[in-house]
Amino acid sequence: MKEKKIAGIKATEYIQDNMILGLGTGSTAYYMIEKVGELVSQGLNIKAVATSQSTTILANEFKIPLLSLDKVKRIDLVIDGVDEIDGQFNAIKGGGGALFREKIVASIADNVIWIMDSSKIVDSIGTFPLPVEILPYGCSHILKKLKSLSLKPVLRMKEDVPFITDNHNYIVDLHLGKDFDIKYVLENLKDIIGVLETGLFLNTCNRVIIGTGDNVKVVENPNKS
Ligand code: 5RP
Repeated sequence: MKEKKIAGIKATEYIQDNMILGLGTGSTAYYMIEKVGELVSQGLNIKAVATSQSTTILANEFKIPLLSLDKVKRIDLVIDGVDEIDGQFNAIKGGGGALFREKIVASIADNVIWIMDSSKIVDSIGTFPLPVEILPYGCSHILKKLKSLSLKPVLRMKEDVPFITDNHNYIVDLHLGKDFDIKYVLENLKDIIGVLETGLFLNTCNRVIIGTGDNVKVVENPNKS
């Protein structure tokens, strides 16, 4: 918990007055949002776009002014969490089910920072199941197709019913395992009608901020300016 908190707070040092900020989703993002709320109460002038309903609720609680995504031309900085990331900045996101909105927000951001505890750094992604957002309509056929491609799909449940995303869709978690073939997975997923988006984020972030014990480490992505 401490690692998530120090990473979340450190990331707020990159926020400047008048920015349009993307607010990520999850337990690490919580600490960042809490700190942004504190800074706003002290006079920081920013406006924010939330990546999920849960983040919208939090931002309102912390009195952070929100805009809808369609009201902004671009986003200066998005700060979000991550489920797994390797040394090449290949990442899996969507443990909280917000991958679609997180990906849209990241795609229009000038700068992306991911915050995490040290457990998120891996040699090779895939131990964490890859979340994929799918259309509920005809989902049994989508699952069958995913199974036939050996992608090991499991429909995400909440209590006894399928988990529903903020976009009113389902999530399928693909249990691919470490060292899966990213190209094979992406190429096959894009051809399945009803697959809407994946939680694979390749070379998306500009820097990562990792809580490690009592310290925080900032790593720049050399492949992003
Ligand atoms: C939500 C996400 C989160 O950023 C990711 O699951 C990390 O969560 P946490 O900070 O709680 O470990 O992608 O869709």
